[in-house]
Amino acid sequence: MQPKQRVLTGITTTGTPHLGNYLGALKPAVVASQQVDTDSFYFLADYHALIKCQDPQTVHRSGREIAAIWLALGLDTDKATFYRQSDIPESPQLAWFLTCMTAKGMMNRAHAYKASVDENQRQSSVDLDQGISMGLYSYPILMAADILMFNAHHIPVGKDQIQHIEMCRDIAMRFNHTYGEHFVLPEAMVEEGEPKVLSGLDGRKMSKSYGNIIPLFAPADELRKLIFQITTNSLQPGEVKDPQTCTLFEIYSAFASHEETMVIRQAYANGIGWGDMKGQLFEYLNDYLSPARKRYDEIITDPAYIESELQKGAVKARAHSEPFMQRLRSAVGIMSLVGDTGAKHHATKVKKELNPEAQAKADAGKAKAMAIAKQRADEDAQQLVMQVDELLKKIAASNNSHAAGEEALEALQTQMNSAKKKAKKSLQQTFELLKQRLSS
Ligand code: TRP
Repeated sequence: MQPKQRVLTGITTTGTPHLGNYLGALKPAVVASQQVDTDSFYFLADYHALIKCQDPQTVHRSGREIAAIWLALGLDTDKATFYRQSDIPESPQLAWFLTCMTAKGMMNRAHAYKASVDENQRQSSVDLDQGISMGLYSYPILMAADILMFNAHHIPVGKDQIQHIEMCRDIAMRFNHTYGEHFVLPEAMVEEGEPKVLSGLDGRKMSKSYGNIIPLFAPADELRKLIFQITTNSLQPGEVKDPQTCTLFEIYSAFASHEETMVIRQAYANGIGWGDMKGQLFEYLNDYLSPARKRYDEIITDPAYIESELQKGAVKARAHSEPFMQRLRSAVGIMSLVGDTGAKHHATKVKKELNPEAQAKADAGKAKAMAIAKQRADEDAQQLVMQVDELLKKIAASNNSHAAGEEALEALQTQMNSAKKKAKKSLQQTFELLKQRLSS
């Protein structure tokens, strides 16, 4: 059987999702997560949000709102892995490894960076890098870490992100070439054929940057107000109208069934008035959106629920990222000095789901246990280093340090052979470290 294909995408947590985002990204993602032959990973890219937004309250609120939207739209969080980027400490760690594998020249060519440089050029700034942070400059690397961490095969993205996926492949290839095959090379998944771009209030593409959006879960009265602001031409009621060039019709048909759309098309031929049509569009959208909006209104007032869903996702995601990062650390040569204890230590199992309170308790307990274990390990390691330093000093002080070194190793070997299990392990570690130090 073919292994399941992994689909992964991130949603930067800034701004308010609108009808265009719903049709282009949210709806298809929720549908895709139901497929049996795929594992989907959807995450809130809150580290990426920091590039665009430095207002802590907005960052925090936006993360909550966008999580609530996904949940309200019926994302099945048992099937999909739904998590927050910042709950995966391995992602920024991996981003550093990848940074060291990324050609600076390639980053100079990243669209988002180049667009900012062009803008500075247009404004005749003396410094072409004015106002550009390293976050913006290297954000494709963090994005690559998001993707490669889960060895995702397919990345559903908008056209503007294709270059980033190509950069991700490039970085992954270089890492694989340097350190062995660790990463799957991902592919961008872009909507086939005519991209679904929805027009906004003024007839241009619906986009935050044009300020012409209709928020997905705008309350009914706001939704009505916005729809009545949509630009139309000056044709009077009774005059035949062209649906093809009309934003009202475009939005209506993007949501309605084929039959429903045909009815409206006929109404245009019959000369429906703009006020009438706006009323109909409002009624239709309001009916369509209100069940999910109701769920949204409930969810958004229950942050504990949202948090518990995200924690559930974090546990699932970290069951991959923790052991994988351990493997990558070893691959680049960053690991314990005394044997590869990491792999065993990190044979993570997916934890059973707990309620938030029990989860918090369990997490606190685990953290404490880990802190104690770490302290012990640190003490052991320190003692080991001191012991070996002592031996090295004696060896250096002797007339023939080479022979003395050999002798010390032999003595350790002899003791090891007759020692019991625990003592044996510690002697073994001393032996290995001494050997290493003598040969370096
Ligand atoms: N950069 C993406 C955007 O702005 C969001 C994102 C972050 C992402 N990490 C990702 C998308 C990984 C796909 C895969 O839309």
